[in-house]
Amino acid sequence: MLFTRLQQRKVPDHMCGIIGYVGSQGTDVTSILLDGLARLEYRGYDSAGIAVLSPSGELELHRRAGKIANLAATVENGSRPGLSTLGIGHTRWATHGRPNDENAHPHPDCTGSLTVVHNGIIENYAELRQELQGSGHVFRSETDTEVLAHLVEHAYTGEAQGDLTEAVRLALQRVTGSYAIGVVSRDHPDLLVGARCNGPLVVGLGENEQFLASDITAILKHTRRVIILEEGEIVTLRPTGVAITTLDGTPVQRDAIIVEWDAEAAEKGGYPHFVIKEINEQPEALRRALLGRVRDGQLHLAELQRMEQEGLLNNIQRIVVVACGTSYHAGLIAKYVIERWARIPVEAVTAAEFRYSDPIVGPETLCIAVTQSGETADTLVGIRQARERGAPVIAVTNVVASAITRISDAVLYLQAGPEIGVVATKTFVSSVAVLYLLGLYLGQARGRITPEQAHEYLAALELLPEQIGQILAHAVSADDSIQPLAKRMARVSSIMFIGRGVGYPTALEGALKLKEISYIHAEGFPAGELKHGSIALLDPDTPLIGIATASHVYEKVVSNIQEVRARDAHVIVVATEGDEKIRLHADDILYVPATLEELSPLLASVPLQLFAYHVAVARGCNVDQPRNLAKSVTVE
Ligand code: F6R
Repeated sequence: MLFTRLQQRKVPDHMCGIIGYVGSQGTDVTSILLDGLARLEYRGYDSAGIAVLSPSGELELHRRAGKIANLAATVENGSRPGLSTLGIGHTRWATHGRPNDENAHPHPDCTGSLTVVHNGIIENYAELRQELQGSGHVFRSETDTEVLAHLVEHAYTGEAQGDLTEAVRLALQRVTGSYAIGVVSRDHPDLLVGARCNGPLVVGLGENEQFLASDITAILKHTRRVIILEEGEIVTLRPTGVAITTLDGTPVQRDAIIVEWDAEAAEKGGYPHFVIKEINEQPEALRRALLGRVRDGQLHLAELQRMEQEGLLNNIQRIVVVACGTSYHAGLIAKYVIERWARIPVEAVTAAEFRYSDPIVGPETLCIAVTQSGETADTLVGIRQARERGAPVIAVTNVVASAITRISDAVLYLQAGPEIGVVATKTFVSSVAVLYLLGLYLGQARGRITPEQAHEYLAALELLPEQIGQILAHAVSADDSIQPLAKRMARVSSIMFIGRGVGYPTALEGALKLKEISYIHAEGFPAGELKHGSIALLDPDTPLIGIATASHVYEKVVSNIQEVRARDAHVIVVATEGDEKIRLHADDILYVPATLEELSPLLASVPLQLFAYHVAVARGCNVDQPRNLAKSVTVE
């Protein structure tokens, strides 16, 4: 019951993990924090740190790149803080700045009197940093988070007059972006302050002690009484109790809930598998891909500034997208869209072929490497070759400081948060979104897209998270048709997918997802190509999924579907809401909201992911770790 309630709330997830503790009696806070961080490990991270109030009243800081075990060893070998009443800890998944000791959280203010942990992205950090430096604040890391520490310090020593909660409130009023934070000060041994805006944060209620955490897993060992903070709320935790207000200071009453999950279910946010959790995180992942890049209807790709200044993009005659698997499908979508928007010829090539093709590339060929892990061996080798031949390279990846980032001229990060399920779901959606932004950028730079057109595309892009949310909400409603369909299809031995234009890579990705996690043979084809041979495979036992969302080739796809139906195949169609005509040509229909043709893969892919997931579950497959697959393919 509670599972369902929390799922429906769609608590967004993020990279990084936060743990905080405040109690009335001296206890081993260090162990509580390290244990909590270990339980947040599954979220993915590349450095970790804690700050504990020492018996002498100082905030002792320990931060280490790498695993929590490194941090624990540093703490044990150094001055392990004694019994304490207060502390915060953090696992960091790098977004701004490398994953090293200095960039690990917690981040102190100028004097070390207070310290902050943060999960999310501060969009306007560059301006704030400049302003704070101008008024004398000294920065010691490359992170966006550090501006929060200085903003709180500024307010604490000024307007808030030593009131920590008020200082946090004032600081957050300056910030745009997403965050969940925890703040402690050596002046207040019995006070922990937390706040949330588009980042998960829960409060655990104990006896004369309270906990703050990114998710319930981290505190389940200590308490099952939990309050889930809502967007735009600040919480003040004291050993005697907690008080919540909104960002404008209005008090909020919220009852605690009693958590009945076990720890494993809690890690998955109440979902039975990481894959379905990550499918449900797609609206948030998409928002994060646009974060800081689409502002007031304008496109800002600051990441490309250096390439622009060096003139690397001035003479581009051709683009080659190099990628594997799902990332290759994202690249194929980019081919259609960039060619249309920028009128530059684009080729999408699987990296394993590219690297052995003696590729014809040079300074006039822009190479785009799409790799969510940033470590795929074939993609890395292919891109190295391209660079050796003088090609400028832009990487699209989810992992900060991964190998691909070191051999690229510019990096566009997905900012999607860790993906634990082996198969790519949310990173596919994020990769496609980032490639759209790159396409619009190139289209505008070439004068092929007017500011008005760009505005229209960006507005449609910004609508997509909500539209994906609608598909996901429908899929858990009583009207859902995907699960019953998946159950019916679970015993077939082969399924074909067809599409045209951007619907073709959507079909390829739908087929790949299905075969990867359900082990049903699945193949995607360009719809017009089917009759040139593969149609021979069709019979009443081989269903076909057609992508027939609104597009300039809609009628053509419908004709191809008719050809298939004439062979008695069972036809399932992904169509645009409001398309009644398609009912004449389909046995089952999966509707998605209307969007611009170019953007349609991001909506059409979602029911296909859900279909693959439910078929796999119905077949009893290991959806999170399918046989023979690895998350990072670092061998040829
Ligand atoms: C499919 C999948 C793989 C990867 C491919 C490339 O679900 O996960 O096909 O897309 O191995 O991986 P990256 O993007 O890390 O280079």
